[in-house]
Amino acid sequence: MTTAYLNNEFIPLEEARISPMDRGFLFGDGIYEVIPSHGGRFVGLKLHLARLQRGLDEIQLELPVSYDELTTLMKTLVERNGSGSLGIYIQVTRGVSMTRNHVYPSDVTPTLFIYTFDIGKPNEGDPDTARLWRVVTGRDLRWQRCQIKSTSLLGNVMHMMEGVDAGAEEILLFDEHDNLTEASVSNAFVVSGNTIATPALDQHKLAGVTRDMALSILSDHGDFNVEVRPVSRTEVGAADELWLSSSTKELAPIVSIDGKPVGTGAAGSVWCRAQRLMAAHRFDDY
Ligand SMILES: Cc1ncc(COP(=O)(O)O)c(C=O)c1O
Repeated sequence: MTTAYLNNEFIPLEEARISPMDRGFLFGDGIYEVIPSHGGRFVGLKLHLARLQRGLDEIQLELPVSYDELTTLMKTLVERNGSGSLGIYIQVTRGVSMTRNHVYPSDVTPTLFIYTFDIGKPNEGDPDTARLWRVVTGRDLRWQRCQIKSTSLLGNVMHMMEGVDAGAEEILLFDEHDNLTEASVSNAFVVSGNTIATPALDQHKLAGVTRDMALSILSDHGDFNVEVRPVSRTEVGAADELWLSSSTKELAPIVSIDGKPVGTGAAGSVWCRAQRLMAAHRFDDY
């Protein structure tokens, strides 16, 4: 049984209830975060909380607890749920208003919901046990505010289904200039020789914490050329390796794209070196 936290109460997840008049339910008017925790240690906590605050600022919403209180709530939930490898899901919505109106109401207490889910032990850079990802490609049809980690995820859900319906597990998305943006629930990296590149951030991408950490860890501790710049569809098609990144996967090797193998069709040697570095530094103070 998973213990969840909802508006001042710890309760079994199955018993958590919100009103249908919650603006998170009616409008997707909320922000969320997913923070990984292994053996009670958080990954990238400072970056996750900073992104949460940026999202709240964008939609003029206030966290109903302090960050110290939030961190204590997270620690308590991790302990109550066994302290294994957990994703901590945090959702803040504008709250319950009995009038359905697009205008933000002013007299409403935000809803705070937190629960944990199993994410499995992260890979330590071992190609024999790595999960291998198949992707397809598609045109990014989401909105112009992808930098906000909004609970309005229908655009991402529909892209994920485009991938799944085509027999893949993720989809790499391209903008109107055929430049890579990201994937439906991940950022993306391309590798050519010793060069690792990922697209620069703008309103078409979420600023992934794993992406940020990888850029720092691989530049500071590796001997790679790490580049942040536009990445074209041609470059993606010709890459030696492609990776996904997210909090629940860390760096994850893509082995096929649109039905064709990437490189040798196995986890690549640059991925192994990079994910080993991620493993060595995942609990650094990011
Ligand atoms: C659209 C999108 N891009 C990128 C990411 C990766 O972000 P992070 O590394 O912070 O998990 C996610 C994670 O959920 C996502 O949903």
